[in-house]
Amino acid sequence: MSDSMSFQVALSFEDGITRFIECGPDETVADASYKARINIPLDCRDGACGTCKSLCESGSYDGGDYIEDALTDDEAALGHCLPCQMTPRSDLVLRIPSTSAAAKTAAAVFTATVADIERHSDTTVGLTLDVHDRDTLDFLPGQYVNITVPGTELTRSYSFSSGPGRHLASFLVRLTDGGAMSGYLRDEAKPGDPLRFTGPMGSFYLRESGRPALFLAGGTGLAPLLSMLERLAQADAPAARPVHLIYGVSRDRDLVHLDTLAAYTKAVPGFTFDHCVADENSTAPNKGFVTTLIDAGTLHHGDADVYLCGPPPMVEAVRAHIAALGVTPAGFHYEKFAVTAGAGAGAGS
Ligand code: FES
Repeated sequence: MSDSMSFQVALSFEDGITRFIECGPDETVADASYKARINIPLDCRDGACGTCKSLCESGSYDGGDYIEDALTDDEAALGHCLPCQMTPRSDLVLRIPSTSAAAKTAAAVFTATVADIERHSDTTVGLTLDVHDRDTLDFLPGQYVNITVPGTELTRSYSFSSGPGRHLASFLVRLTDGGAMSGYLRDEAKPGDPLRFTGPMGSFYLRESGRPALFLAGGTGLAPLLSMLERLAQADAPAARPVHLIYGVSRDRDLVHLDTLAAYTKAVPGFTFDHCVADENSTAPNKGFVTTLIDAGTLHHGDADVYLCGPPPMVEAVRAHIAALGVTPAGFHYEKFAVTAGAGAGAGS
């Protein structure tokens, strides 16, 4: 989303908050951050101290001039970089070694209007928002926002199911008994309602590693993976790679968006998927948990990035299963969410 004169740099802080800044091709990331009033860690500003050392997770850049004490060749080869010296050659995602509070910034606040409420089943709702000042909302596919439940001060975390390039922003919500957002969506919500949210947040986002990827979704944990797929379906998507998604739910009625996934098998080169249902009375071809469909081959014998989003027991079961296979994936990114609190809360990577 950058114009020809500048690139977009995502600054991802330790507390999960992400801020986006514009940075010109001859401008250092530190100068661009300063202009945006974001105080990333800096000391010498001269490539000598290493205070600003960050990790570049995607994109290309000119590292600038610095001394070995500030950044070793080995570190540079692993993607570490010095924002006080580096200039972008493409859009970038940087992990900044401080919290957003220390950088005197915070998650941005957005207002929106409910555009659509789609009742997929009695357990799952698709919520679509028309975000005001949409141009100022940037996010990485896989990230989430905290939505304030109307009429309360409570917030619930939901991952975008739509991609960053789409005007409307969509989310998947699991309806739970007694859940605050569930109650609102089930009983009150209607198009035109005002909503407020903060974000974007989370370190669960698509990296441009080029390795094959294994996407694992539990229930509404499908949302951030749908956002990543939408990104991969765009004309300027990162280079094609094999992406296999395994989507597991508890019961047949929890299955949503199978038609969307089928469409992505045509729109995203190299994309395939399977789904499974834990309920033994299911009519699905695969009964059981996602782990039953993961072997060393689906993990490309380790040469794969795993992206996993689901409830905590699923995340733990997948980790244990992969460890038992004796395979260590090259990348392992996950997002856990508590079912009672809605989808997408909490973060890990
Ligand atoms: Fe010292 Fe960047 S601030 S190396």
